[in-house]
Amino acid sequence: MKGTISYTSDVLLIEGGKRLRGSVRVSGSKNASLPILFATLLTKEPCTIYNVPDLLDTKTAFELLEHLGASTFYRASEAEVDPSGVHVYEAPHEVVRRMRASVLVMGPLLARFGRAVVSMPGGCSIGVRSIDQHLKVFERAGASISLKHGYVDMSIRRIRPVEYTFEVITVTGTENALMFLSGCEGRSILRNIALEPEVMDLVEVLKKMGAHIEIEDRTAIIRGSKDLKGFVHEVIPDRIEAGTLAVAGFITGGDVVLEGLRVEHMGSVLEKLRDAGAVVDVLDLSRIRVRSSNSIRPLSIATAEYPGFPTDMQAQFMTACCLAEGVSEITENIFENRFQHVAELQRMGADIHVRGRTAFVRGVERLYGAEVYSTDLRASASLVLAGLVAEGQTLVRDIFHLDRGYERLEEKLKKLGALIERAPLKKS
Ligand code: EPZ
Repeated sequence: MKGTISYTSDVLLIEGGKRLRGSVRVSGSKNASLPILFATLLTKEPCTIYNVPDLLDTKTAFELLEHLGASTFYRASEAEVDPSGVHVYEAPHEVVRRMRASVLVMGPLLARFGRAVVSMPGGCSIGVRSIDQHLKVFERAGASISLKHGYVDMSIRRIRPVEYTFEVITVTGTENALMFLSGCEGRSILRNIALEPEVMDLVEVLKKMGAHIEIEDRTAIIRGSKDLKGFVHEVIPDRIEAGTLAVAGFITGGDVVLEGLRVEHMGSVLEKLRDAGAVVDVLDLSRIRVRSSNSIRPLSIATAEYPGFPTDMQAQFMTACCLAEGVSEITENIFENRFQHVAELQRMGADIHVRGRTAFVRGVERLYGAEVYSTDLRASASLVLAGLVAEGQTLVRDIFHLDRGYERLEEKLKKLGALIERAPLKKS
């Protein structure tokens, strides 16, 4: 494997209390970039992808593509992938362990080679996150699948058209199935699919490659082809990064303009910001202005599949609720263990009680800076937000979690006036 990425063990130092002001541009979507980068495996022709964020996860995706035999080039948010040399159909544990979205190579490799050997992703800190739905689609198409030595070993001789109803709405399960079926001859139907904007961005790419995909409600009809073409595509903006920055502007009592986003993708998040008392002006289809009013109102939040309130914004809004005037209820319906940020927020003075899937957050006067640990991508974002409003200094450790999904977040926040520095961890 070319130059395996070593996780940085940097920390972020944040001095709380500054109101954020100014404008900042949102980066491209991590969760759209990853499936689209792996869709290149479905063709032998070169592909160009714009607005790809510079993240640990996208770096891992390039590494995996190179491991499979593709050649990649990345500079200033533009990615070039030449998949003509792809000849390997195995995704090793070392990579999948680092980024579970590596399972998205299953569909393309199985369609291209009739073979895929991919390490089981294993659980992660936010939940078991099984991939049974991904595998059921491949089985329905005629694949024989064996799970041995921690790997999913799939082979398929004659591909049958698929008609499958997902038992769970799954984002990457839908993406894996759409890529696989787009790379096979025949007409298939998927029901109960995920409709996240990132899934729809992948659909746009698959259509550019030559697949015919019609989507109505949560049903997709796919007519695939063994002769998919290269493509040029600009990835949609990251609605979760945009939501995170919006919460930062709101809870610091600031006035921020976010540019380069897609307002149409942020309905439920903007609604919750307004419920909490934020003044949100839609300046045009790609710009919003977020100002705080003089208080934060308590919220009732229940995460749901798109277009519901996104689970990836739950931790960030919990930080806002910590300072609300009253008790908020936050129910996490997508993952069974996505409250790891609670313990760290409590160390900063938050008053939170978790019962089952619901966190009850009683607003407090203020949070206090502390040394806190990131546990997963969005939890680390919630701790950074807490540091921005806490009294005193906050030190956020293990920010490689943050670097997986946010492109230089501290630089964006600094541009808005935050007192935040990245420091290399002093070797003790
Ligand atoms: C995607 O993960 C995102 N990752 C996640 O973002 C996001 O939180 C999640 O969708 C939900 O929106 C990428 O797109 C790379 P799921 P994914 O399959 O596809 C269960 C971030 O912060 N399930 O939609 O892995 C599963 O256990 C990351 O950027 C099955 O039971 O999520 C979970 O409880 C974190 N069987 C629920 O469905 C399956 O086969 C939703 O999972 C698949 C999923």
